[in-house]
Amino acid sequence: MSATNDVRAMTPPDVAARKGGVPLVCLTAYTTPIARLVDPHCDVVLVGDSVGMVLHGLESTLGVSLEMMILHGKAVRRGLSRALLVVDMPFGTYEEGPAQAFRNAATLMAETGCAAVKLEGGVAMAETIRFLSARGIPVMAHIGLTPQAVNSFGGYKVQGRGGDAFHILRDAEAVADAGAFSVVLEKVPATLADRITETVAIPTIGIGASRACDGQILVVDDMLGMFDAFRPKFVKRFAELGEDGKRLERDLADTARRGGVRFVGPNCLGIQRPVAGMNATFLETGAPGGRLALVAPSRGLCAALPRYAAPPQPGCPSLVS
Ligand code: KIV
Repeated sequence: MSATNDVRAMTPPDVAARKGGVPLVCLTAYTTPIARLVDPHCDVVLVGDSVGMVLHGLESTLGVSLEMMILHGKAVRRGLSRALLVVDMPFGTYEEGPAQAFRNAATLMAETGCAAVKLEGGVAMAETIRFLSARGIPVMAHIGLTPQAVNSFGGYKVQGRGGDAFHILRDAEAVADAGAFSVVLEKVPATLADRITETVAIPTIGIGASRACDGQILVVDDMLGMFDAFRPKFVKRFAELGEDGKRLERDLADTARRGGVRFVGPNCLGIQRPVAGMNATFLETGAPGGRLALVAPSRGLCAALPRYAAPPQPGCPSLVS
Protein backbone atom coordinates (compact mmCIF):
# COMPACT_ATOMS: atom_id res chain seq x y z
CA MET A 1 0.00 0.00 0.00
CA SER A 2 1.30 3.44 -0.81
CA ALA A 3 1.87 5.72 2.14
CA THR A 4 0.45 8.91 0.63
CA ASN A 5 -0.67 11.76 2.93
CA ASP A 6 1.34 10.23 5.76
CA VAL A 7 -1.40 7.65 6.31
CA ARG A 8 -0.03 4.30 7.34
CA ALA A 9 -2.18 1.46 6.12
CA MET A 10 -3.23 -1.33 8.47
CA THR A 11 -1.31 -4.57 7.94
CA PRO A 12 -2.19 -8.16 8.82
CA PRO A 13 0.20 -8.06 11.84
CA ASP A 14 -1.57 -4.86 13.04
CA VAL A 15 -4.86 -6.74 12.88
CA ALA A 16 -3.40 -9.77 14.68
CA ALA A 17 -2.03 -7.47 17.40
CA ARG A 18 -5.56 -6.25 18.20
CA LYS A 19 -6.41 -9.57 19.89
CA GLY A 20 -8.21 -8.64 23.10
CA GLY A 21 -7.67 -4.93 22.39
CA VAL A 22 -9.70 -2.19 20.71
CA PRO A 23 -12.40 -4.03 18.72
CA LEU A 24 -11.72 -4.33 14.98
CA VAL A 25 -14.13 -2.55 12.66
CA CYS A 26 -14.53 -4.41 9.37
CA LEU A 27 -16.89 -3.75 6.47
CA THR A 28 -17.33 -5.02 2.96
CA ALA A 29 -16.93 -2.84 -0.11
CA TYR A 30 -17.16 -3.67 -3.80
CA THR A 31 -16.71 -0.27 -5.43
CA THR A 32 -14.39 2.73 -5.23
CA PRO A 33 -16.98 5.20 -3.83
CA ILE A 34 -18.03 2.88 -1.00
CA ALA A 35 -14.37 2.09 -0.26
CA ARG A 36 -13.66 5.84 0.01
CA LEU A 37 -16.64 6.29 2.29
CA VAL A 38 -15.76 3.51 4.74
CA ASP A 39 -11.94 3.72 4.67
CA PRO A 40 -11.54 6.36 7.40
CA HIS A 41 -13.73 4.35 9.78
CA CYS A 42 -12.48 0.80 9.16
CA ASP A 43 -9.55 -1.37 10.12
CA VAL A 44 -10.33 -3.95 7.45
CA VAL A 45 -12.22 -3.61 4.18
CA LEU A 46 -13.22 -6.93 2.69
CA VAL A 47 -14.09 -7.46 -0.94
CA GLY A 48 -16.37 -10.34 -0.08
CA ASP A 49 -17.65 -12.85 -2.59
CA SER A 50 -21.06 -11.70 -1.33
CA VAL A 51 -20.55 -9.26 -4.24
CA GLY A 52 -22.04 -11.97 -6.45
CA MET A 53 -25.37 -11.87 -4.61
CA VAL A 54 -25.42 -8.20 -3.64
CA LEU A 55 -24.29 -6.56 -6.89
CA HIS A 56 -24.63 -9.23 -9.56
CA GLY A 57 -27.94 -10.78 -8.49
CA LEU A 58 -26.60 -14.33 -8.17
CA GLU A 59 -28.55 -16.77 -6.00
CA SER A 60 -25.47 -17.76 -4.00
CA THR A 61 -21.75 -17.02 -3.95
CA LEU A 62 -20.96 -20.19 -5.89
CA GLY A 63 -20.99 -18.46 -9.29
CA VAL A 64 -18.42 -15.83 -8.34
CA SER A 65 -15.23 -16.00 -10.40
CA LEU A 66 -11.64 -14.95 -9.78
CA GLU A 67 -12.08 -12.31 -12.52
CA MET A 68 -15.01 -10.74 -10.63
CA MET A 69 -12.95 -10.60 -7.44
CA ILE A 70 -10.04 -9.02 -9.32
CA LEU A 71 -12.28 -6.38 -10.90
CA HIS A 72 -13.93 -5.40 -7.61
CA GLY A 73 -10.66 -5.75 -5.69
CA LYS A 74 -8.99 -3.24 -8.02
CA ALA A 75 -11.90 -0.82 -7.69
CA VAL A 76 -11.82 -0.99 -3.89
CA ARG A 77 -8.03 -0.65 -3.78
CA ARG A 78 -8.38 2.76 -5.49
CA GLY A 79 -10.63 3.97 -2.68
CA LEU A 80 -8.47 2.95 0.29
CA SER A 81 -5.58 4.65 2.01
CA ARG A 82 -5.83 3.38 5.56
CA ALA A 83 -7.79 0.14 5.95
CA LEU A 84 -6.34 -3.29 5.27
CA LEU A 85 -7.68 -4.67 2.00
CA VAL A 86 -8.67 -8.35 2.14
CA VAL A 87 -10.11 -10.10 -0.92
CA ASP A 88 -12.19 -13.29 -0.79
CA MET A 89 -11.04 -16.37 -2.68
CA PRO A 90 -14.09 -17.52 -4.62
CA PHE A 91 -15.49 -21.05 -4.65
CA GLY A 92 -13.40 -23.46 -6.71
CA THR A 93 -10.18 -21.44 -6.66
CA TYR A 94 -8.48 -22.95 -3.59
CA GLU A 95 -10.12 -26.19 -2.43
CA GLU A 96 -8.08 -28.56 -4.65
CA GLY A 97 -5.00 -28.02 -2.54
CA PRO A 98 -2.24 -25.64 -1.46
CA ALA A 99 -0.68 -25.26 -4.95
CA GLN A 100 -3.95 -24.19 -6.59
CA ALA A 101 -4.67 -21.89 -3.65
CA PHE A 102 -1.21 -20.30 -3.85
CA ARG A 103 -1.48 -19.69 -7.58
CA ASN A 104 -4.85 -17.98 -7.33
CA ALA A 105 -4.12 -16.08 -4.12
CA ALA A 106 -0.90 -14.75 -5.68
CA THR A 107 -2.89 -13.61 -8.72
CA LEU A 108 -5.41 -11.84 -6.49
CA MET A 109 -2.63 -10.06 -4.59
CA ALA A 110 -0.69 -9.08 -7.71
CA GLU A 111 -3.75 -7.83 -9.60
CA THR A 112 -5.61 -6.05 -6.79
CA GLY A 113 -2.83 -4.99 -4.43
CA CYS A 114 -4.62 -6.64 -1.51
CA ALA A 115 -2.43 -7.54 1.46
CA ALA A 116 -4.36 -10.65 2.47
CA VAL A 117 -6.95 -13.12 1.25
CA LYS A 118 -9.88 -14.76 2.99
CA LEU A 119 -10.95 -18.34 2.45
CA GLU A 120 -13.65 -20.51 3.94
CA GLY A 121 -13.04 -23.68 5.95
CA GLY A 122 -11.50 -24.92 9.17
CA VAL A 123 -9.70 -28.20 9.73
CA ALA A 124 -10.06 -29.11 6.04
CA MET A 125 -8.26 -25.91 4.98
CA ALA A 126 -5.56 -25.89 7.67
CA GLU A 127 -2.86 -27.34 5.42
CA THR A 128 -3.62 -24.76 2.73
CA ILE A 129 -3.58 -21.90 5.23
CA ARG A 130 -0.21 -23.11 6.54
CA PHE A 131 1.17 -23.31 2.99
CA LEU A 132 0.02 -19.79 2.05
CA SER A 133 1.03 -18.18 5.34
CA ALA A 134 4.53 -19.64 5.10
CA ARG A 135 4.89 -18.19 1.58
CA GLY A 136 3.97 -14.56 2.18
CA ILE A 137 0.19 -14.75 1.78
CA PRO A 138 -1.59 -13.68 4.96
CA VAL A 139 -4.87 -15.53 5.39
CA MET A 140 -8.06 -14.50 7.14
CA ALA A 141 -9.98 -17.70 7.83
CA HIS A 142 -13.78 -18.00 7.80
CA ILE A 143 -15.62 -20.68 9.79
CA GLY A 144 -19.11 -21.40 11.15
CA LEU A 145 -21.64 -20.66 8.41
CA THR A 146 -19.45 -20.67 5.33
CA PRO A 147 -21.76 -19.54 2.51
CA GLN A 148 -19.82 -21.41 -0.19
CA ALA A 149 -20.99 -24.63 1.55
CA VAL A 150 -24.65 -23.58 1.50
CA ASN A 151 -25.65 -26.76 -0.34
CA SER A 152 -23.98 -28.99 2.24
CA PHE A 153 -25.66 -27.05 5.07
CA GLY A 154 -29.06 -27.05 3.33
CA GLY A 155 -29.45 -23.27 3.77
CA TYR A 156 -27.96 -20.28 5.56
CA LYS A 157 -28.49 -21.74 9.03
CA VAL A 158 -26.82 -21.10 12.37
CA GLN A 159 -23.92 -23.52 12.76
CA GLY A 160 -22.40 -25.02 15.91
CA ARG A 161 -25.48 -25.75 17.96
CA GLY A 162 -25.32 -28.66 20.41
CA GLY A 163 -22.67 -31.26 19.64
CA ASP A 164 -21.51 -29.40 16.50
CA ALA A 165 -19.97 -26.71 18.70
CA PHE A 166 -17.01 -28.98 19.28
CA HIS A 167 -16.27 -29.20 15.52
CA ILE A 168 -16.32 -25.45 15.11
CA LEU A 169 -14.04 -24.98 18.09
CA ARG A 170 -11.65 -27.45 16.46
CA ASP A 171 -11.90 -25.52 13.18
CA ALA A 172 -10.93 -22.32 15.01
CA GLU A 173 -7.97 -23.97 16.70
CA ALA A 174 -6.83 -25.53 13.43
CA VAL A 175 -6.83 -22.26 11.44
CA ALA A 176 -5.11 -20.37 14.26
CA ASP A 177 -2.48 -23.07 14.56
CA ALA A 178 -1.97 -23.04 10.77
CA GLY A 179 -1.06 -19.35 10.84
CA ALA A 180 -4.24 -17.44 9.92
CA PHE A 181 -3.93 -13.86 11.21
CA SER A 182 -7.63 -13.64 12.09
CA VAL A 183 -10.79 -15.68 11.76
CA VAL A 184 -14.33 -14.70 10.78
CA LEU A 185 -17.02 -16.48 12.83
CA GLU A 186 -20.27 -16.39 10.92
CA LYS A 187 -23.65 -17.23 12.46
CA VAL A 188 -22.58 -19.31 15.44
CA PRO A 189 -24.18 -19.16 18.92
CA ALA A 190 -22.77 -16.40 21.14
CA THR A 191 -21.62 -18.85 23.81
CA LEU A 192 -19.56 -20.73 21.23
CA ALA A 193 -18.13 -17.53 19.72
CA ASP A 194 -17.16 -16.38 23.23
CA ARG A 195 -15.45 -19.70 23.94
CA ILE A 196 -13.51 -19.53 20.66
CA THR A 197 -12.53 -15.91 21.35
CA GLU A 198 -11.16 -16.94 24.74
CA THR A 199 -9.37 -19.99 23.33
CA VAL A 200 -7.58 -18.89 20.16
CA ALA A 201 -4.68 -16.44 20.04
CA ILE A 202 -5.86 -14.66 16.86
CA PRO A 203 -8.65 -12.06 16.65
CA THR A 204 -12.14 -13.40 16.05
CA ILE A 205 -14.30 -11.26 13.78
CA GLY A 206 -17.97 -11.92 14.28
CA ILE A 207 -20.89 -11.67 11.90
CA GLY A 208 -24.07 -12.74 13.66
CA ALA A 209 -21.89 -14.36 16.32
CA SER A 210 -21.17 -12.46 19.56
CA ARG A 211 -20.55 -8.90 20.69
CA ALA A 212 -17.55 -10.20 22.61
CA CYS A 213 -15.63 -11.13 19.44
CA ASP A 214 -12.42 -9.15 18.86
CA GLY A 215 -14.12 -7.38 15.98
CA GLN A 216 -17.26 -7.32 13.84
CA ILE A 217 -17.80 -7.44 10.11
CA LEU A 218 -20.93 -6.43 8.21
CA VAL A 219 -21.97 -6.23 4.59
CA VAL A 220 -22.38 -2.50 3.91
CA ASP A 221 -25.35 -3.04 1.61
CA ASP A 222 -27.20 -4.86 4.42
CA MET A 223 -26.50 -1.97 6.79
CA LEU A 224 -27.80 0.60 4.34
CA GLY A 225 -30.88 -1.37 3.39
CA MET A 226 -29.70 -1.73 -0.21
CA PHE A 227 -29.85 -5.53 -0.36
CA ASP A 228 -33.32 -6.92 0.10
CA ALA A 229 -33.11 -10.54 -1.11
CA PHE A 230 -33.03 -11.39 2.61
CA ARG A 231 -32.49 -9.47 5.84
CA PRO A 232 -30.02 -10.96 8.29
CA LYS A 233 -31.56 -10.56 11.78
CA PHE A 234 -28.28 -9.47 13.34
CA VAL A 235 -27.77 -6.46 11.06
CA LYS A 236 -28.57 -3.00 12.38
CA ARG A 237 -29.95 -0.94 9.51
CA PHE A 238 -28.40 2.52 9.57
CA ALA A 239 -30.41 3.71 6.56
CA GLU A 240 -33.18 2.50 4.31
CA LEU A 241 -32.07 3.02 0.75
CA GLY A 242 -34.19 0.14 -0.59
CA GLU A 243 -38.02 0.20 -0.83
CA ASP A 244 -38.53 2.62 2.08
CA GLY A 245 -35.85 4.85 0.63
CA LYS A 246 -37.66 4.90 -2.72
CA ARG A 247 -40.89 5.91 -0.96
CA LEU A 248 -39.04 8.72 0.85
CA GLU A 249 -37.56 9.88 -2.44
CA ARG A 250 -41.05 9.96 -4.00
CA ASP A 251 -42.36 12.01 -1.03
CA LEU A 252 -39.44 14.40 -1.38
CA ALA A 253 -40.00 14.79 -5.10
CA ASP A 254 -43.75 15.51 -4.56
CA THR A 255 -42.94 18.08 -1.90
CA ALA A 256 -40.32 19.71 -4.11
CA ARG A 257 -42.73 19.82 -7.07
CA ARG A 258 -45.41 21.47 -4.93
CA GLY A 259 -42.83 24.00 -3.71
CA GLY A 260 -41.58 24.65 -7.25
CA VAL A 261 -38.00 23.61 -6.44
CA ARG A 262 -35.62 21.23 -8.21
CA PHE A 263 -33.47 18.42 -6.79
CA VAL A 264 -29.94 17.89 -8.05
CA GLY A 265 -28.12 14.58 -7.66
CA PRO A 266 -29.14 11.11 -6.50
CA ASN A 267 -27.55 11.57 -3.06
CA CYS A 268 -29.71 14.57 -2.35
CA LEU A 269 -30.75 15.14 1.25
CA GLY A 270 -33.48 17.54 0.22
CA ILE A 271 -34.44 21.08 0.99
CA GLN A 272 -35.39 22.91 4.16
CA ARG A 273 -36.94 26.38 4.29
CA PRO A 274 -37.20 26.77 8.07
CA VAL A 275 -38.49 30.35 7.75
CA ALA A 276 -41.45 28.94 5.77
CA GLY A 277 -41.80 25.84 8.00
CA MET A 278 -40.82 23.53 5.10
CA ASN A 279 -38.78 20.37 5.70
CA ALA A 280 -38.51 18.30 2.51
CA THR A 281 -35.53 16.24 3.67
CA PHE A 282 -34.83 12.84 5.18
CA LEU A 283 -34.17 14.60 8.50
CA GLU A 284 -36.81 14.26 11.22
CA THR A 285 -36.22 17.73 12.62
CA GLY A 286 -35.94 21.00 10.76
CA ALA A 287 -33.48 23.76 11.57
CA PRO A 288 -34.86 26.83 13.36
CA GLY A 289 -35.31 29.91 11.16
CA GLY A 290 -32.37 32.32 11.15
CA ARG A 291 -29.77 34.21 9.18
CA LEU A 292 -27.61 31.42 7.71
CA ALA A 293 -28.26 29.59 4.41
CA LEU A 294 -26.44 26.48 3.25
CA VAL A 295 -26.15 24.95 -0.23
CA ALA A 296 -23.89 21.89 0.02
CA PRO A 297 -23.25 18.74 -2.00
CA SER A 298 -22.58 16.84 1.23
CA ARG A 299 -25.48 15.00 2.76
CA GLY A 300 -23.48 14.60 6.01
CA LEU A 301 -22.82 18.33 6.25
CA CYS A 302 -26.46 19.14 5.66
CA ALA A 303 -27.52 16.60 8.27
CA ALA A 304 -25.20 18.23 10.81
CA LEU A 305 -26.26 21.80 10.10
CA PRO A 306 -29.69 21.85 11.78
CA ARG A 307 -28.00 20.78 15.01
CA TYR A 308 -25.41 23.55 14.63
CA ALA A 309 -28.10 26.06 13.78
CA ALA A 310 -30.16 25.23 16.90
CA PRO A 311 -30.52 28.01 19.50
CA PRO A 312 -28.45 29.84 20.63
CA GLN A 313 -26.66 29.41 17.26
CA PRO A 314 -27.55 31.53 14.24
CA GLY A 315 -30.52 29.63 12.82
CA CYS A 316 -30.96 28.77 9.17
CA PRO A 317 -33.37 30.23 6.61
CA SER A 318 -32.52 27.71 3.83
CA LEU A 319 -30.69 24.43 3.52
CA VAL A 320 -30.25 22.88 0.07
CA SER A 321 -28.37 19.64 -0.53
O1 KIV B 1 -18.51 -12.39 1.35
C1 KIV B 1 -18.63 -11.69 2.36
O2 KIV B 1 -19.10 -10.54 2.33
C2 KIV B 1 -18.19 -12.27 3.63
C3 KIV B 1 -18.54 -11.54 4.90
C4 KIV B 1 -19.98 -11.63 5.14
C5 KIV B 1 -17.75 -12.00 6.05
O3 KIV B 1 -17.60 -13.29 3.66
